[in-house]
Amino acid sequence: MTDANAARLHVTIDGRNVEVEAGTTVAAALAMAGGGGTRTSVSGQPRAALCGMGVCQECRVTIDGRAHALACQTLCREGQVVCSARAANNAANATNVSSSTNLSSGPSGANAANAANAPSTITPTIATDKR
Ligand code: FES
Repeated sequence: MTDANAARLHVTIDGRNVEVEAGTTVAAALAMAGGGGTRTSVSGQPRAALCGMGVCQECRVTIDGRAHALACQTLCREGQVVCSARAANNAANATNVSSSTNLSSGPSGANAANAANAPSTITPTIATDKR
């Protein structure tokens, strides 16, 4: 049960404004924000918080510019800015596309072009190749 008088905090997660109750972890806020993902494995698989107790390291995100912060061990605070590596990778791909003169016509190029043209919402992309 939630307390109607509980303090509400406003955080930004991958460019989206999210309101959470005081005492919420960043990992929970990520899940409530809808995406929940934190990064992409080297084989392209989406990753997210797993253990919730600081062991697995799957919840690493950038919090207020501090990279590799554990989302499950960090409480939200007012004005906090959280960036998942997945969002950062999408942004980096968009930057690479816009600064490149030789665009790939393969799936990676199409995904990067989509990321460059995407509005502020994050659209998860599931990799189908196993490189
Ligand atoms: S969820 Fe495992 S370390 Fe955070």
